[in-house]
Amino acid sequence: MSQASITPLFSAEDIAARVSELAHDIVRTCPPDLLVVALLRGSFVFAADLIRALHAAGASPQVDFMTLSSYGNSTQSSGAPTQLRDMNENVQGRHLLLIDDILESGRTLQYAKELLSARGAASVHVAVFLEKPGKCVTDIRADFTGFRIPDHFVVGYGLDYANFYRELPFIGVLVLDNSSR
Ligand code: IMP
Ligand code: MG
Repeated sequence: MSQASITPLFSAEDIAARVSELAHDIVRTCPPDLLVVALLRGSFVFAADLIRALHAAGASPQVDFMTLSSYGNSTQSSGAPTQLRDMNENVQGRHLLLIDDILESGRTLQYAKELLSARGAASVHVAVFLEKPGKCVTDIRADFTGFRIPDHFVVGYGLDYANFYRELPFIGVLVLDNSSR
């Protein structure tokens, strides 16, 4: 891959503190019998931390996953999301907490929320770890947001560039030093 540098934005400690706050907000706001629906792949690290923080905040959620794809191997959204793998649980009548790594255009979350609502979910709250204000082109709004960030391409904590950097324990801004993006 091309040469890249990563400038740290949120440390592992910043992230842990914020995830704990989010979990308490969620427990205060959402019905107790929550089914967490984490969108793969980007949200898997956030989801893993958030469900443990929810436990610490007194909740006992069920957890499921759905795999959607919208970016491919670029830093620009490719438009309409596609569903690559469905979840296992029946969402009919359930209170859902839909989780994604980042809300940018909103297309991914809009697609997922409409799909789950159409399947008869009783409620769908949305939690995102990051949000890029001003980039949303849909009606979707997050009920819970970890951090709002400027319009930079970020990686780490599950977020990728071409499926790299998901393992970083912090969030950093990716700067590609050639014209490959
Ligand atoms: P949206 O559909 O445009 O809101 O984009 C949401 C999806 O795009 C997220 O689930 C991410 O997988 C990906 N994405 C958006 N911005 C970034 C970024 O800055 N870094 C890594 N992935 C991103
Ligand atoms: Mg992604």
